[in-house]
Amino acid sequence: MPKRARPVELWAAEHPVYVGAGSLAALGARLKQEPEGVRVFVLGDENTLRLCLPELLGQLDGLRNSSTIEVPSGEQSKSLETCRAVWEHLLTAEADRSAVLLNLGGGVVTDLGGFIAGAYKRGIRCVHVPTTLMGMCDAAIGGKSGIDLGGVKNAVGSFEPPMGVYVHVPFLRTLGKRELLNGVAEMIKHGLALDADHWNDVRTAPLHDMDALAGLILRSIALKAEVVTKDMHENGDRKKLNFGHTIGHALEAHSWESGQRTLLHGEAVALGMIAESWLSWKRGLLDRASMERISEHILSLYKPYPLMASDHHRIVALMRNDKKNREGSTRITLLKSIGEAVVDVEVSSTQLSEAIEHYRHLVAHNALHNRP
Ligand SMILES: NC(=O)c1ccc[n+]([C@@H]2O[C@H](COP(=O)([O-])OP(=O)(O)OC[C@H]3O[C@@H](n4cnc5c(N)ncnc54)[C@H](O)[C@@H]3O)[C@@H](O)[C@H]2O)c1
Ligand SMILES: [Zn+2]
Repeated sequence: MPKRARPVELWAAEHPVYVGAGSLAALGARLKQEPEGVRVFVLGDENTLRLCLPELLGQLDGLRNSSTIEVPSGEQSKSLETCRAVWEHLLTAEADRSAVLLNLGGGVVTDLGGFIAGAYKRGIRCVHVPTTLMGMCDAAIGGKSGIDLGGVKNAVGSFEPPMGVYVHVPFLRTLGKRELLNGVAEMIKHGLALDADHWNDVRTAPLHDMDALAGLILRSIALKAEVVTKDMHENGDRKKLNFGHTIGHALEAHSWESGQRTLLHGEAVALGMIAESWLSWKRGLLDRASMERISEHILSLYKPYPLMASDHHRIVALMRNDKKNREGSTRITLLKSIGEAVVDVEVSSTQLSEAIEHYRHLVAHNALHNRP
């Protein structure tokens, strides 16, 4: 008889992360250790409850009596209104402090569910079962939770380490190409900021191949876990993971409020990485060939987001609201080389504006030459 598959277990000292075959069985075993009477609430959106919950229930007998709570899919659910609706649901269902919230979904569900669990009755426990590539390689790892407020990403949030994260890669089978690429952006970031080999592996991997993806997810988690272990509350090294995010978050917020097509988080970060790589070169940190290599690769994967010259002011204004700013100056994470980020580089609004202008020209130039 073949031996039962065992998942890879990472990061046991913080919250354990299980990846690979057997990870759902590990979750089942963990929940079986709970005393009788502990209730599990599964939080998901309409897609994850339809596409992933049946498989989860199929593998975890014990979950059959759990209740489900559905929120609408999409970033709009990272809102106070959704929190309120879920808190009211939990109250009406008389969930007590022993309850466990099982967050089944992408980064929206795990960010939201972590925050909801952290505040309900001063904190109940939660488990993350990520179902998107973004969730598996990044959002569900590291214990950051949060919601958006007044058009500002992650304006309210907390550090809420889950009891565990259980990564079942086959959930990705139903994910569309755009969502897959959305997650790839964070893996590119892990490579650029932390590990040149990972950047090369992500760049050359067949992204439709689940086994190849599983290996990349594992590496991304390990890289993120290493950084977060040293700096949970983002006072130092964890800021390396913000590479691409200062400009990326502003572009993401800009895409919500302008009539332009809406950017997904990873897409915005990918564009942010082009602009921030250019800034890294401009500041004399990164060599030109690396900057161009990064830019070319990202442009080959993601649809351009055209900007107007008049968009600068608003995008720079949106960056001022970014929570990573201190005392009026913008401190940003840049690259020293591929695989090595530097944190807290002070940049002026003019430099940020120039970086956005660089991206605008690049897109216009590519459109002229009929690039993807
Ligand atoms: N906390 C962190 O450290 C961290 C890190 C990175 C990103 N994030 C956050 O994550 C969020 C983005 O996460 P996301 O990209 O996973 O978005 P998401 O949760 O909205 O999922 C994307 C879409 O895929 C659908 N979906 C989910 N699983 C599916 C599956 N298996 N098959 C088919 N469809 C599926 C969802 O219903 C949704 O429509 C952003 O809000 C971002 O800020 C947080
Ligand atoms: Zn991100």
